[in-house]
Amino acid sequence: MGQQPHEVLVHHLIPDTTGIGRTSFLLGLALLIYAVFLIRKRNDRLSAFPGPRLAGWTRLHSVAAVLTGREHEILLEAHEKYGPIVRWSPNTLLISDPSALPKIYHLRANKTPHYNHSPGDYRGMVEENDWKEHRRKRHRIDPPFSPKSVQDDETIIQGFVTNWIAALKERYTGENSQVFDFSDWGNFLILDIVTKRFFGAEMGFIAHGDHQGLLADTRANGPVIHALARLPKLKTFLLKSFGRFLIPTAGDGSGLGNVLELRDELLGERLKKGDRSSDVGLDRILFDPANTGMELEELKEDLLFVILGAADTTGHALRCLVRNLLQNPPSLARLRKEIDEAAIAAIDMNNISFSQIKANIPYLASCIRESLRRDPPIVSYLPRWVDSTDDGGGGGIELCGQFIPAGVEVACSPYVLSRNKDLYGDDVHDFRPERYSEASNEWVAKAVRYDFTFGYGPRHCIGQNLSHFVTCKAIVQLLHHFDAELVEAGAGKAFLNWNYQGLMVRLKERV
Ligand code: HEM
Ligand SMILES: *[C@@H]1O[C@H](CO)[C@@H](O)[C@H](O)[C@H]1NC(C)=O
Ligand SMILES: *[C@@H]1O[C@H](CO)[C@@H](O)[C@H](O)[C@H]1NC(C)=O
Repeated sequence: MGQQPHEVLVHHLIPDTTGIGRTSFLLGLALLIYAVFLIRKRNDRLSAFPGPRLAGWTRLHSVAAVLTGREHEILLEAHEKYGPIVRWSPNTLLISDPSALPKIYHLRANKTPHYNHSPGDYRGMVEENDWKEHRRKRHRIDPPFSPKSVQDDETIIQGFVTNWIAALKERYTGENSQVFDFSDWGNFLILDIVTKRFFGAEMGFIAHGDHQGLLADTRANGPVIHALARLPKLKTFLLKSFGRFLIPTAGDGSGLGNVLELRDELLGERLKKGDRSSDVGLDRILFDPANTGMELEELKEDLLFVILGAADTTGHALRCLVRNLLQNPPSLARLRKEIDEAAIAAIDMNNISFSQIKANIPYLASCIRESLRRDPPIVSYLPRWVDSTDDGGGGGIELCGQFIPAGVEVACSPYVLSRNKDLYGDDVHDFRPERYSEASNEWVAKAVRYDFTFGYGPRHCIGQNLSHFVTCKAIVQLLHHFDAELVEAGAGKAFLNWNYQGLMVRLKERV
């Protein structure tokens, strides 16, 4: 299938390595233009809200924060300094109080241009600002992500987990024993599963590693995409004027160009096969009579996000869970004990089902929850408009006891909320699964209600169930098969995704 000129910027600011120079140059130029021409009069409407001095005048400081790769920590420091509402740009307020979630991320909340990346006429579900349009697009793509659909695919998913364990065993244990970087192994697993379930394709991430630079190039361009999100007007201008230069195209040799090509190929194959009764996720969308006449160009924007949205999120969740457990031997020992007892109970550990895990290894859920709390894969803030008429309120909302007028951008960050000491106590930076496993049901219900790791409201993560399912199965089988020694914890920077490297481990076969 031919390449369209208007692929999403998220996708095309992600070109080959030489393209990185090109996009950085454009960003630099853009910032300069912005700094010289666009600093305007101080916006006084939100002057009652505390924040860094520059925030009343310009968005440049928020760009600077992004480029450090530790924006989330800067946001937390700002809340510690200024309180639960921080003015972060002339028209943006950040909120650190979890009880604001339902008021911000309500059914009819519209997204702001923070998310817009597409220079073309088509918007994917993630970019879509309008809540009604979003609902239509999301409804279409939902079926393969439902809990039931994930459960139905347990055998397929188990097959990949089995391959994953076998690949780790063959490459890094026995005669080939060596210390290796585990950081991306969760990414490989989830990518193989998603591409198989959704596109019916065998991509071989587990077998061959990063597919033609997909992960590497996504990460390399994270800073540019993330920085431009803070400058929506400038971004729109750039897209309109230079969009075509920034857009990698299918088969142009760039990492993302390859993925676009692959996506188009996979879509083409499904269309050609025309298998109306298949279980492949994409077929269920393409051949659903309810979707007759669907705009393919629009769907294509979503297809790429399904691939890119899966990898570094679930990958980060898995790598941090492994690291947190290895750094906390008592937690690891407690989890191991439950796993070993399940094995003694004659459960086939090579094929242990999700429901058996839930019934026999209850501590795992607390470990996963706590690891996601301590190390959320998405850390940056997720903006919405305070709506004027759409929210039924007709002009503003009250947050943390203060009135916020319509037309203001408000946002919470999963990282900041997960460090809320009123909710979690003073040890927010520790990994302590007992926080959940030994708390009252009441407290757990509250913590779950205010969990922002997967977003909140109608735009919350569509892949949450799949991600949880895969994480459970992968970690149980990993700990069943191997003893792991942590050699180095590694480190990362967060942009759109985590760019994390150097989680060095040594595996030893247990069984
Ligand atoms: C631990 C793993 C994951 C985390 C922490 C995570 C986090 C998030 C968050 C915070 C959002 C909301 C974004 C917003 O409000 O702007 C989101 C949306 C989304 N996620 Fe995930 N995600 C994960 C796994 C996945 C997986 C495995 C997939 C796909 C297979 C996926 C696909 C998506 C999609 C398509 C959306 C957009 C939903 C919409 O706009 O309605 N995610 N995710
Ligand atoms: C794993 O268990 C499922 C039922 O839970 C069964 O259908 C499948 O054949 C089993 N696979 C293997 C390899 O034993
Ligand atoms: C499945 O996902 C929904 C949100 O889509 C969430 O409310 C629910 O808790 C999830 N269930 C599991 C087992 O993760």
